[in-house]
Parts: sequence; structure tokens; C-alpha cells
Amino acid sequence: MTRLNRTVRTGAPVPRSSTDSSGPDNERDTMSTELAEPLGGQVVVFSLAGKEFALPIARVQEIIRYAKPRSVSSGVSWVRGVINLRGRIVPVCDLAARLGEVGQGDGESKIVIIESSSDIAGVIVDEVSEVLTFDDNQVDPLPASGLNLFRAVAKLDDRLIVILDPERMLAGITGAQIEQAAGAPVLQLDLLEQSFDLLAPRGEELVERFYEILFERAPAAEPLFAQTDMKRQKAMLLGALVLVRNSLRDLDGLVPKLEAMGARHVAYGALPDHYPVVGEALLAALAELAGEAWTDDLEAAWTEAYGLVSSVMLAGAARAGLAAAA
Ligand code: HEM
Repeated sequence: MTRLNRTVRTGAPVPRSSTDSSGPDNERDTMSTELAEPLGGQVVVFSLAGKEFALPIARVQEIIRYAKPRSVSSGVSWVRGVINLRGRIVPVCDLAARLGEVGQGDGESKIVIIESSSDIAGVIVDEVSEVLTFDDNQVDPLPASGLNLFRAVAKLDDRLIVILDPERMLAGITGAQIEQAAGAPVLQLDLLEQSFDLLAPRGEELVERFYEILFERAPAAEPLFAQTDMKRQKAMLLGALVLVRNSLRDLDGLVPKLEAMGARHVAYGALPDHYPVVGEALLAALAELAGEAWTDDLEAAWTEAYGLVSSVMLAGAARAGLAAAA
């Protein structure tokens, strides 16, 4: 048994065994189907309701801190909801509920993002402890039957670690099914990036037209900017748009910045009702500059993106309001 001195860091992609040049791990990583995989190899160990479980490391994409999933009516009792992982809608499964156990609760939990051969999903666990390597002879297979999620059991001194089967864990929930239930289309990243890049050289004209359209359509917004240096303001708005464009594939990094911006907007006098008007003015300015290149798909992609940005800003504004009231 090789015990690795690696700790698994929250938020970091889990290291793979690609540095190993020999032994069963290497053979294992080249195997693609579940049936062909040997039982031993590297596993990520985690605890749930005081028991130890593990998943093959080749199927663990990353481990993230628990974030409350948005609930969806997926029709699957142990699907807690969905999270947005860098623009991808990922179903999150309550493993404790599925195994008939009681987890320790939301606050301390982690979500392990696992890949089956066709999909990815998050699995809520109590704590991720370590990466271990087992030889095949240290692992006893468990019979596959029905909904049984257990693939094998590994013995380590006085510990018994149950190795779970990712394929069987995710059977019955595909990302597409859950996405449909969530009614949450994934952001059209390529479309957003390409269209923004097309207009970026005319960025100053874009923000200029945005404010003209905004004040035309919503004259009541103009007094909010009475003390504002508009030249600087336009540059800052363009900077924010560029930031969003460059962070579309890293929403985890973008969210705190947008929340902080939303919190600052409370002091500027921005109200939740103002956000749709601002969104309409922004889309109108984009459409005007894009001219014939503007399509229904682009309209839909930008509407979705603006909806996401404004909802995160409003969440930041609401939290700032709560903190101020406390
Ligand atoms: C997605 C929506 C929005 C984005 C991306 C955005 C972006 C920005 C940025 C980057 C600034 C510069 C100051 C800072 O970063 O704090 C700013 C300032 C400002 N925003 Fe927004 N904003 C949005 C929505 C709104 C709405 C709905 C209102 C309400 C009418 C509003 C009113 C203002 C005002 C009055 C200022 C000027 C503050 C000053 O005088 O310094 N914004 N906005």
C-alpha cells in the first residue's frame, strides 16, 4: 500500500496519477470503460455520516466548497438541484439521502464533481480527507446488483473504505434532463465572446449609445448620475463589460466581483426595478452597433448573460442591505 502525502485542496482540480511511470495506476488510467478498470488504483477518500467512502481518482474532476444548489423539479428525490460550474449546469446529488444516511449538513460539506462516461454531476460529502493508492489484492469486489452503488471494499489497517461506482451513481440523471428541468440554458459562451470581440473596437461608441438610449427611455435614471464624471463612468462601464467577457469561463472568479459591484450600486441609488431598463438599453445599444449581424440567437444569449450578471449584482446588493440592517 502506498499512502500518498498529497492533500486534496478545496477548489483545486484533483491531481491525477500521470506522473507515475509504472505500476497498476498507470495501466488503470489508460482504461476507459468501467468494466475494464481494475479494482485497485488511486482513490479520493471522503467521509459521510461517519463512514469512509472513496471514488476512483480518474473520475473525480474537482472538489468545490458547498454552495446551495438551485432546486429543480427533476423528479429524482436525491437530486438536490443544480449548480452553475463555470457556465455548465451540473446536477448535485445528495449521496447521504441516496444511501439512507444522514450527512452532517450544508455548512461543512464539500461537493465532489465526478465524471461518468457520459456526464458530470456533483456529489455532496461531509469531508474529503486524502488520496490513497490500493493494489488490486487489497480490494474486494462487491456484487453488482440493481441500484447498488458499491463497487468494492478496501481494507486499510482497521479502516474499511467502500469504493463507489461512478457509473451507477449517475445512472438515471443526465445533465440534459436536469438542465431541462432547471429551465436554465447554459450560457452561449462562444456566441457571447465572438459578438463582444466584434464590437470591442467600438467599445466607446457602445457605452456612449448605451447612456443615450438609457436616458431617452428612462429619464428618471439621469439624476442618479448628476454628480458623476460621465467620461470616467463610460470607461468604467466598458471595463466592467470587458471583465465579464473575459470571465465567462470562470464564473466562480467573477461572482464575488459582481456581488461587490452590486453592493456598491446600493449607494448609487440603483434599485432592483432599474436593472431590466438598464439591460434593455444595453441590448439595444449592442443590437444597433452590430446592425445586420444581430440575430435572435445573439439577443437570447445576451439576455441570458445580462440576467445572470444582474441577478448576481442584486444578490450582492441584498446581502449588503442585510449586513447594514444587522
Ligand atoms: C449589469 C448592470 C450594471 C453594470 C455592469 C454596471 C456597471 C457600473 C460600473 C462599472 C460603475 C462604476 C463604479 C463601480 O464600479 O462601482 C457603475 C456606476 C454607476 N452605476 Fe451601474 N451598472 C449596472 C447597473 C446599474 C443600474 C441598474 C443603475 C441604476 C440606474 C446603475 C447606476 C449607476 C450609477 C448612478 C453609477 C455612478 C456612480 C458614481 O457616481 O460614481 N447601474 N456602474
